[in-house]
Amino acid sequence: MSNAKIPVIIDCDPGIDDAVALALAFGCGKLDVLGVTTVAGNTTGENTYHNARRFLSFIGADVEVARGADKPILRPLITAPDVHGKAGLGGLSGAEDSGMDDDDRDTSGRSALDLITETLLNHGEKVTLVPVGPLTNIAIALLARPEIKHKIERIVLMGGAALEGNRTPAAEFNIIADPEAARIVFESGVPITMVGLDVTHKALIYPDEIEALRKHGRIGMAIAELMDFYGVFYRKRFEGNPVHDALAVAAVFESDIVSTRLLNVCVETSGEFTLGRTVVDFRGVTGRKPNCDVALGVDRERFINLIFDAVKTLEQQSQRRF
Ligand code: RIB
Ligand code: CA
Repeated sequence: MSNAKIPVIIDCDPGIDDAVALALAFGCGKLDVLGVTTVAGNTTGENTYHNARRFLSFIGADVEVARGADKPILRPLITAPDVHGKAGLGGLSGAEDSGMDDDDRDTSGRSALDLITETLLNHGEKVTLVPVGPLTNIAIALLARPEIKHKIERIVLMGGAALEGNRTPAAEFNIIADPEAARIVFESGVPITMVGLDVTHKALIYPDEIEALRKHGRIGMAIAELMDFYGVFYRKRFEGNPVHDALAVAAVFESDIVSTRLLNVCVETSGEFTLGRTVVDFRGVTGRKPNCDVALGVDRERFINLIFDAVKTLEQQSQRRF
C-alpha cells in the first residue's frame, strides 16, 4: 500500500458542497492537489473563482487557483441560487462575520485551460482530474490539447445519475449545465468514475452530525454553517444533506468507498425531456463499449468519518497558524 499522495487537479464551481470537497481534499492528507480550477455553475464564474480563493485561504490551503469558463460551450449559463445562494457560499458569501478574508491572494494569471494542460503535460506522473461542476473546462482542455489524454490517470467526476435527476427528472445539474461538454468527456476514452446522484443521495450528512461539526473550531463551525444554509433547500427533500462533491473526492483516495459497475454511459444532448441525461446501459443492449465505472453503492458512515477527520486536521493546522 503506497503512502505517496495521489496527484490531482480539482475543477469546481463553489458552491457549498464544492467547499466541503476542497476541505476534504486538503484535510485528508492523501492528495497532492496540484491546482484548483473554477468554472461557472452553481453561481457565476466571477463568484466561483473568488469563492474558491477565499475558502482555500480560510482553510489554509496554499494552492494555485485558475479561472475557467464563464459559460457552457454552446448554451446559456444556468445556476443554482436556490441551493447555494446567489453568491454561491450561502451565509458565508461575503458576510463580514463569515471569518473568511477578502480575496487578496496573489494570482498566477494562468487560465484554467493552461493550468490543466500545462500541469498534465509537465507533471512526472499521471494526474487524476476531479471535476465537481459542469465539465466545460475539462472538455475545452481535451479539445485544445488532446495529447493530455495519456497523462490523465482517471477522471473522477461528480455528476450524472443512472436513475433520477435533480435539475430535471432526467438530468443531474453538472451534466445538464453543459451537456455538450459532458458528452466530449464521456466520449474521450479517458477512464472515468461517475459519482452521481445514485450514491450522493445515499451518503447524506444528518443534522446531529452537522451539530457535531460545530465542536471543531472555526473550520467545523464554517462547514456547519454552510450545511445549515444548504439544508434549507435539501430538508424539503431528504432527512440530511447530500454532500455531492466531497464524495467524488473521497472516491479518489478511497476508491472502494463506492461500489461501481463498468458500463456504457452516453450523454443526451438533444432530448426535449431528457436533455443532460446520462444514459446508463445496464444490460449492454446497445452493444456500445463500456466507458465508465458508475458508482451505485456507498459506505455512508465511512464517508462521514472522512469529512470529520479532515475537518479536525484542518482545525489543528489552523490553530498552529494563529
Ligand atoms: O447536482 C449536484 C452538483 O451540482 C454538485 O456538484 C453541486 O455543487 C452542483 O454543482
Ligand atoms: Ca459542484
